[in-house]
Amino acid sequence: MRLQALDARLKFVTILDMDVSTESLTAGQMAELIDLVKEVHGFDFSDYTKASLKRRITRVMLIKKTDFYNLKHLLINEPSFFQEFLEEITVNVTEMFRDPSFYKALNTQVLPYLSSYNHIKVWSAGCSSGEEAYSIAILLKEAGLYEKSFIYGTDINTVVLKDARKGIYSLKNIKTHAGNYQLSGTNASLSAYFTSLYDAAAIQNELRANTLFAVHNLISDTVFNEFQLIICRNVFIYFETSLQEKILELFYNSLCPFGFLCLGSKETIRSGLFKTKFRTINQKENIYQKIGD
Ligand SMILES: C[S@@+](CC[C@H](N)C(=O)[O-])C[C@H]1O[C@@H](n2cnc3c(N)ncnc32)[C@H](O)[C@@H]1O
Repeated sequence: MRLQALDARLKFVTILDMDVSTESLTAGQMAELIDLVKEVHGFDFSDYTKASLKRRITRVMLIKKTDFYNLKHLLINEPSFFQEFLEEITVNVTEMFRDPSFYKALNTQVLPYLSSYNHIKVWSAGCSSGEEAYSIAILLKEAGLYEKSFIYGTDINTVVLKDARKGIYSLKNIKTHAGNYQLSGTNASLSAYFTSLYDAAAIQNELRANTLFAVHNLISDTVFNEFQLIICRNVFIYFETSLQEKILELFYNSLCPFGFLCLGSKETIRSGLFKTKFRTINQKENIYQKIGD
């Protein structure tokens, strides 16, 4: 009898799973969710690319075993759920020295120019768990510029920012980072910048000293400093063109005259207006320089 009941329950759970996994959000439901998140939580996802956003929201529904109506209920009534939702719908994949050829170009084409400044302020926008910010810290250190530099890492996801502040990475990830670092044209070893822990490694305190990680939403927050270098890689790919333009305006206003902007390998300045405001330093690596005010 009990086994039969268990069997029936298992069947019910399987049916529930199937219902959720086969449910596809309609455009109307997506719009409803986007409006709800904006109204209740103040985060505006309306100009994120729809296909990617839909995939991520469907994933949340699968993980939480919830349908559209229950998802709405959770978003309205469970304040702690929104943080989980945010973590799932933002893509936080990152690596140190990701796209090594970019770091090679940064080293040879941008850092020599930055050396002429008394203070160098760098903004890693959409920094995820900090790997990008620490990679830049290492490059600046090797160029003898770290002492006069300060690196700000910002993101909307508070969980990854906590990891960024700690600067502790698993040995498996460190292996990937070290491989990238080798390909970026260095003769040194990445281990020189880490302290070994049991199954992880911590970035040296010296490299954490001139970095600050904070919450900043590229869509709704404003200019917070003037930078010589802004790096925003693998973030624009999730945004529609109109939103990219709005954020280019923010970057333009956040850069000092002749400051540098670096986008990801698949991210270019497409807007006619901003093509006149930036000159291309390296087309393949999407490195740009602000022309002036
Ligand atoms: C794929 S990661 C890129 C990390 C790193 N820049 C790199 O290239 O490896 C994208 C990051 O952008 C962040 N992000 C997404 N929307 C954002 C927004 N509106 N404001 C700030 N950060 C955002 C995500 O939370 C995520 O950590």
